[in-house]
Amino acid sequence: MKALVLSGGKGTRLRPLTFTCAKQLIPVANKPILGYVLDQVAATSIKKVGIITANETGQFVEDYVKDGSSWNLNVCYIPQEPLGLAHAVKTARRFLGQDSFVMCLGDNVTGQGLEAFVKKFKNEHLDALIILKEVDNPSSFGIAQLDEKGNIVRLVEKPKTPMGNLAIIGTYLFSAKVHEAIERIKPSWRGELEITDAIQEMINMGFSVKAEILNSWWLDTGKKDDILSANARILDEYIQRDVKGTVTNSTVDGRVKVEPEAKIVNSTIRGPCVIGKGVLVENSFIGPYTSIGDGSKIYNSNLEYCVVQDCVTVKDIERLEDSLIGKNAKVTRNQRNRTIKLHVGDYSEVEV
Ligand code: DAU
Repeated sequence: MKALVLSGGKGTRLRPLTFTCAKQLIPVANKPILGYVLDQVAATSIKKVGIITANETGQFVEDYVKDGSSWNLNVCYIPQEPLGLAHAVKTARRFLGQDSFVMCLGDNVTGQGLEAFVKKFKNEHLDALIILKEVDNPSSFGIAQLDEKGNIVRLVEKPKTPMGNLAIIGTYLFSAKVHEAIERIKPSWRGELEITDAIQEMINMGFSVKAEILNSWWLDTGKKDDILSANARILDEYIQRDVKGTVTNSTVDGRVKVEPEAKIVNSTIRGPCVIGKGVLVENSFIGPYTSIGDGSKIYNSNLEYCVVQDCVTVKDIERLEDSLIGKNAKVTRNQRNRTIKLHVGDYSEVEV
């Protein structure tokens, strides 16, 4: 069995960060989301991984994953025009050959590993296994309708009038039969070859397709608030107290990870949170569910529920909440008057 990890696409909902970074590389708890996906693949017996990339951001993905040896995986890259998830599978046809494979979306994280799904797929000799989870906003996802016995009746991509609330999450297992179905489908109204349509076609063709409900959390990090939720969830689940940097005249409360060479001076840090390598926090309060990226500097400020990427400066900000700040950004207060002075990139959002 192989793995196909989708790390292409356009990332339009996360602009401007995605102008200079692949959306799958946005960090939560100071680690790219794609890293968590590869951790889960590495925990199975799968070794061969193909990563789908987009032209604009593929190099960033390659710079991060390299040959995959950090995960003990053997990784190759497959560039793709972002024409849909089924199109990504079609583009990876040579890499996949006649093997069955698990397909993971590089911007989706779950609290459950892949092993149980791989086992079910193999033991029951399935052609497709899809994983579902209840959602409140079914129009934003592929939706599955099941009968009383749990068999799939129908699948619809982003239905305007949803026929249920069971969303298809970003983990799929397929036999090579999926390629026959993909050959038969046409692009959807949004111009994409939809994997949801391919799975429906597999059902129509009489292949053995089953669904399993995920019994843990799942986060699709497509938008800013999803990144903040994923950050909070990962900090909550994985961060243990580990203070390596220096702490001077400060309080560090609870599950806080302070990386080496970080300095906390005259400040309070309240976990769960992570303070990256070489960070300086001075005369500040860093509240729960905050991640501060390597090399950032925080002076005279209060932050809570934020993702601050690497080499950011935050200075004299009384209260910064629910914020996602890209690399090398500066957020400071104008002390002289109450004018707001901005230098923000295209598609930025500023709430004052
Ligand atoms: O998150 C789960 C949902 O993912 C499912 O419920 C939907 O059925 C499925 O179509 C998909 O919907 P999205 O519209 O959210 O997919 P998105 O465009 O965000 O792409 C998902 C990932 O796949 C993302 O990491 C980018 C990558 N991708 C996407 C496309 C369209 C590619 O690598 N190539 C592509 O052509």
